[in-house]
Amino acid sequence: MAYGEAVAIEAADVRKTYRGKAALDGFDLTVAAGTVCALLGPNGAGKTTAVRVLTTLLRPDSGRVRVAGCDALADPRSVRHRIGLVGQDASVDEVLTGRQNLVLFGRLSHLTTAAARRRADELVERFDLAEVADRSVAGYSGGTRRRLDLATSLVLAPPVLFLDEPTTGLDPRARLDVWASIESLVDAGTTVLLTTQHLEEADRLADRIAILDGGRVVAEGTPDELKARVGPDRVETVVRKPTLDEVFLHLTGHRPAARTS
Ligand SMILES: Nc1ncnc2c1ncn2[C@@H]1O[C@H](COP(=O)(O)OP(=O)(O)OP(=O)(O)O)[C@@H](O)[C@H]1O
Ligand SMILES: [Mg+2]
Repeated sequence: MAYGEAVAIEAADVRKTYRGKAALDGFDLTVAAGTVCALLGPNGAGKTTAVRVLTTLLRPDSGRVRVAGCDALADPRSVRHRIGLVGQDASVDEVLTGRQNLVLFGRLSHLTTAAARRRADELVERFDLAEVADRSVAGYSGGTRRRLDLATSLVLAPPVLFLDEPTTGLDPRARLDVWASIESLVDAGTTVLLTTQHLEEADRLADRIAILDGGRVVAEGTPDELKARVGPDRVETVVRKPTLDEVFLHLTGHRPAARTS
């Protein structure tokens, strides 16, 4: 990172062990404000654990974590006020309508009912939910539900947003819609940390990619830097730049998840 650039997310030597097994094993990450970082890794790499630590939902055994200018261990409340989170599992209520969910999140965030309603209307518009906003969420498609998840995480317009596998399980069309929603947030200046098992997602959305394996970052850089790190001689005998899939396999020893688009 260039000197003087504001840092939105910083984790240093973070460790978290479950029953003697390390889920995070010296996790280090720095994300500049206003950028998108993709945490890319196979099942069990520690992506969700990292997101839970960074969002103060889980206390690490050791390490330092700063998010949005606050110490996540000493002052988790301040961090919570400055972040949004879309978890790996949907967090919205199935019985309520999309609009009711948005108003509920606003009320839980201490907005007045009138302010919560106004914000819900804005988000319905912005995330293209007008057609479904007054129907029960139980009937939503996966992609629509994910757009609602994104909208609920933005009720308070947080400067830093965490998305844990935002497009897993979506069909290619729905994935494109969610990507477009994420890109519009980024254009508005939000810092985004997203996790993914899909290289094309990281390549499309992220300024920088951190490859996570065994609870630590094994490689970090722009998509082009990561491709350049694995020289062409390491990738079969064809003289060409390696694909991100090959970089991933080379660095982690795991094959990336199957592509669905
Ligand atoms: N609550 C828990 N109790 C015990 N072990 C856990 C717990 N949460 C995570 N783990 C273990 O920690 C490791 C990292 O899990 P984590 O969920 O962070 O990985 P992930 O990269 O998010 O995987 P996925 O791609 O499947 O979502 C795994 O070995 C997992 O089994
Ligand atoms: Mg996970």
